[in-house]
Amino acid sequence: MKLYEPRNLAFLNAAVITVSYILLFVLSVTVIFSDAFTHYYTFLALLVSAMVIFLVAYFNFRYTLEKFIYDKIRLIYKSIHSVKVGKKGKAQIRPDGNLIDKVQAEVENWEKEKELEIEQLKRLEVYRREFIGNVSHELKTPLFNIQGYVSTLLDGGLEDPTINREYLKRTEKSIERLVKIIGDLDEISQLESGQLRLNIIRFDLVALTREVVEFLEMKAQKHEIYILLIDPEKPVMVEGDKDRIRQVLTNIIDNSIRYGNPDGGKTKISFFDLDEHILTEITDNGIGIDPGDLLRVFERFYRTERGRVATRKGKGLGLAIVKHIIEAHMQTVNVRSTIGVGTTFGFTLKKA
Ligand SMILES: Nc1ncnc2c1ncn2[C@@H]1O[C@H](COP(=O)(O)OP(=O)(O)OP(=O)(O)O)[C@@H](O)[C@H]1O
Ligand SMILES: [Mg+2]
Repeated sequence: MKLYEPRNLAFLNAAVITVSYILLFVLSVTVIFSDAFTHYYTFLALLVSAMVIFLVAYFNFRYTLEKFIYDKIRLIYKSIHSVKVGKKGKAQIRPDGNLIDKVQAEVENWEKEKELEIEQLKRLEVYRREFIGNVSHELKTPLFNIQGYVSTLLDGGLEDPTINREYLKRTEKSIERLVKIIGDLDEISQLESGQLRLNIIRFDLVALTREVVEFLEMKAQKHEIYILLIDPEKPVMVEGDKDRIRQVLTNIIDNSIRYGNPDGGKTKISFFDLDEHILTEITDNGIGIDPGDLLRVFERFYRTERGRVATRKGKGLGLAIVKHIIEAHMQTVNVRSTIGVGTTFGFTLKKA
């Protein structure tokens, strides 16, 4: 029995008043008429008046409690409920059931939800601040370079044939880098806001991989990396957005070249049939990734210490884009790596 329910509180209070009344009655009647209780009427009078007092007290208490306290709680409950279901939704309150228990549960739930929301907002705020910090940091280097070259050229360098072309070329490179960073950021923000629509078609994944390998051939030669495509002539049909998957392959193969083994690097690309899916694996024998960095390499702007030592060129955006694209296809991407042995990136696509 819940004591704080109006009907129980009213009962208790009415009982206390009635008992007090009976005691008072008995006391006063015995004092005034010593033989009063020998009469049957005295008992009857006591019984009837006690009952009337009990009922009046009970209903009076109950009405007051419900009217003034319960109605207020109901209003609070209604407000909480309306906030939860939104302005358009109607708060559904059934008068039966234990309102106080419901309010308590509702407030506790609400508190938990709000705590979670606040946590999430705090995390987002940190993320946003980090993101802006990272973007400005990334943009700063090429911008400062451009500023330096242009100033030197304006300060007389333009007339100096030993540096004028070279500085213009370097300026062009820095501008290219800026354009690439902005392109990647644009890409990520589109992927993250879900604005990007996939153009799903059926295509030959092996033929596409061959194209990407040919495109990266020069870079691979420069880094002395040998790229091996397993079964390059056997078509493997998949479903996906061909241009986006081209990006995925380019980013992963590009990494295998960039972070490959400088003395005899090798990248192997293989395809595995998994009933409904095709698993593509790109394995290199490069610098490898520390276990602690493995999950973080898919975060935007994340670069490993080894990666930074290997090259200053990375932006840390390639794999974030890969992850977004693969997840937009409702597929998975994973990585395994051993320091000094190499790294394997794998992603799945639906078979067509
Ligand atoms: N095959 C790999 N072997 C070793 N480390 C790798 C490999 N691929 C990625 N990494 C590490 O993961 C980090 C993130 O890779 P990601 O492709 O996202 O960025 P990036 O290569 O630095 O720059 P970009 O945005 O130009 O691709 C790299 O900086 C590198 O430290
Ligand atoms: Mg990369």
